[in-house]
Amino acid sequence: MNVRDYNRAAWNHQVATGNRWTLPVGPEVIAAARRGEWSVLLTPTKPVPREWFPPLVGLDVLCLASGGGQQVPILAATGANVTSFDNSPAQLARDREVCDRDGLTITTLEGDMRDLSVFPDASFELIFHPCSNGFVPDILPVWREAARVLRPGGTLLAGFTNPVLCLFDDAKMERGEFVVRHRIPYSDLTSLTDEERRWYTDRNEPLCFGHTLADQIGGQLEAGFLLAGFYEDGGEKWKLSEYIPCFAATRAIRV
Ligand SMILES: C[S@@+](CC[C@H](N)C(=O)[O-])C[C@H]1O[C@@H](n2cnc3c(N)ncnc32)[C@H](O)[C@@H]1O
Repeated sequence: MNVRDYNRAAWNHQVATGNRWTLPVGPEVIAAARRGEWSVLLTPTKPVPREWFPPLVGLDVLCLASGGGQQVPILAATGANVTSFDNSPAQLARDREVCDRDGLTITTLEGDMRDLSVFPDASFELIFHPCSNGFVPDILPVWREAARVLRPGGTLLAGFTNPVLCLFDDAKMERGEFVVRHRIPYSDLTSLTDEERRWYTDRNEPLCFGHTLADQIGGQLEAGFLLAGFYEDGGEKWKLSEYIPCFAATRAIRV
């Protein structure tokens, strides 16, 4: 199966069916951002600390796999020059919809987060990459490409899922029973039975992958970043988050 093609269609479907991460912000959010009152999410619930951002006016920002009419128009409203790069045309259309409505200028490009070859080296000063690398099977190319297209001293803000969320039998976890079932790295392609996978594919649900912390954190360091910030976020709907935060965010500086 071609994961990129499958997940493009799956995310287009999420837009059509109103997945929370595809719902655009209203004009009042953009008006407030223009006044300097704004926040954005890398993880499900906890706003990114404002001190994690460099001054945004005139800054060249790449929003990576961040379509959906949320972070992209908010960052554009703060005065940044924002490029939205996402695999789903429908998610990119959400970004354009908000920007057209509220008179903001952005660039949108469809592509795979693992291949940023459309951008020359050192094109950006900030990359904003919310929890979305769980939709690709391999993330080391994402960090390498992010390092290449950032200028030295540039900032990479990334959210990701703690792989502990993939350890357990999903159906049982929904009932509050924690039965360890899967090895990490986890893959919807190889960790599930065909019948279990069909439950997701019959519903056009995106295919997911659970990456090791070595790939999530070590991968950033190997690509040429130094970590300068970290926080965890419980998420909201996960039973496991009553015991451990299931999401994390990093602030990394390109050396
Ligand atoms: C959970 S949504 C994140 C966007 C959302 N605005 C947010 O607040 O987190 C995940 C995004 O990743 C994108 N995506 C999935 N696979 C991708 C890939 N291979 N390359 C680029 N984007 C991808 C999806 O199209 C979707 O817009």
